[in-house]
Amino acid sequence: MNKKKYYKIITYGCQMNENDSEKLAGMLNILGYSPIEDEEKADIVIFNTCSVRENADVKVFGNLGHFKPLKKRNPNMILAVCGCMMQQQEIVNKIMDKYPQVDLVFGTHNLHKFPELLANAQQSPRIVVDVWEEGGEIVEALPIERKYEHKAYVTIMYGCNNFCSYCIVPYTRGRERSRRPEQIVQEITKLAQEGCKEITLLGQNVNSYGKSLEEDITFADLLRRLNNIEGIERIRFMTSHPKDLSDDLIAAMKECDKVCEHLHLPFQAGNNKILKIMNRRYTKESYLNLINKIKDAIPGIALTTDIIVGFPGETDEDFEDTLDIVREVKFDSAFTFLYSVREGTPAAKMENQIPDEIKHKRFQKLLDLQHQISAEENKLLEGTIAEVFVEGVSKNDTEKMSGRTRTNKLVNFIGKKDSIGELVQIKITQGQTWSLNGVQIGYDDKE
Ligand code: 5AD
Ligand code: SF4
Repeated sequence: MNKKKYYKIITYGCQMNENDSEKLAGMLNILGYSPIEDEEKADIVIFNTCSVRENADVKVFGNLGHFKPLKKRNPNMILAVCGCMMQQQEIVNKIMDKYPQVDLVFGTHNLHKFPELLANAQQSPRIVVDVWEEGGEIVEALPIERKYEHKAYVTIMYGCNNFCSYCIVPYTRGRERSRRPEQIVQEITKLAQEGCKEITLLGQNVNSYGKSLEEDITFADLLRRLNNIEGIERIRFMTSHPKDLSDDLIAAMKECDKVCEHLHLPFQAGNNKILKIMNRRYTKESYLNLINKIKDAIPGIALTTDIIVGFPGETDEDFEDTLDIVREVKFDSAFTFLYSVREGTPAAKMENQIPDEIKHKRFQKLLDLQHQISAEENKLLEGTIAEVFVEGVSKNDTEKMSGRTRTNKLVNFIGKKDSIGELVQIKITQGQTWSLNGVQIGYDDKE
């Protein structure tokens, strides 16, 4: 009998990368490999890398270093590195120069070639490198090994055309390309038949979905189509760009009962001068108007955002505009980032880079404000009843279950243990900064 073969995938960064890793896992399954936790026992280890998140690159190189002795002990192991970092030539050069333990490098545009590349790497005494500059036709129907049973990520478009001046994504993920709607409907229908109830549509800027297609279709139209798929209970999506969020999308969110009351709408910075240099193409005023329109149309909608602190040239007064937006909108939560240089982007060459000390001070001020608001907003929910989609046993208390509201809030609750994948009604008993506590309606703890 053949020896069983194992793989381990280590994923950095966003949901898009997680979704790509699910596709790599799907291809490995077909090739006869099984997943394994312990990398010492793996025949193939893949690092799926990220260029956006803070320090992700430092972590990747540190981790690759740890594989040097492992690779000596097990020279047959294949060490592969892929994802956004590999679209940067200087990073690939560094790997070729300094990390001889690496066997295979590929990028974001040729993920579907992985089985072929793996076979080459297994036969080649030297490193195999294949990185494409641009994505061609979208490759459909790749096998996929999904991480969760009842919820799934579905990428609806690839790439980004916006070129925000701080961002590396247009360089690492290429130009915008939308998947054909029939392909998306087909994938989600199949997921629903397999028991999936919640889908999250992914794209760098889902609001410009359809622009690259011949067919006349917008993101709002797509949501209306997906809302009809039987078996799907919840539809989420991210990320939206404020400049492309149409009235029709707001109408579609309101109309479609499965589309959840949550919008992730990054504003990045509050000051108009900074927004202009960031190339965001909206103003503080237009952003706030948009938020008011959304809040009026969909009462109780949860709003989350991304904010960058310390963009080149940001003064204390400019930063106050960021705090203003945070105070006025009262986001349910915010992902906050210290501006950091991404080589190859316009902002990397800008003068007036902000010293770390000032950046950190502003960052702390923003965090304190946001934490206070998150706690206040969650406290307002005490005593209300929420529909919760049960995801599993609570991470911090194994006596409890946990799940998410339609507004994407984490709820830890006392309730039935065998309800994973179900929608249940929970009375919220306590609102905290990061999560809610509750009790399942009708639950008798002697059950
Ligand atoms: N520095 C800091 N934050 C960044 N982001 C993207 N590029 C950078 C950068 N160079 C943040 C933005 C984006 C999120 C995914 O990452 O806020 O919305
Ligand atoms: Fe980056 Fe801007 Fe595109 Fe978002 S919209 S991926 S921040 S370039």
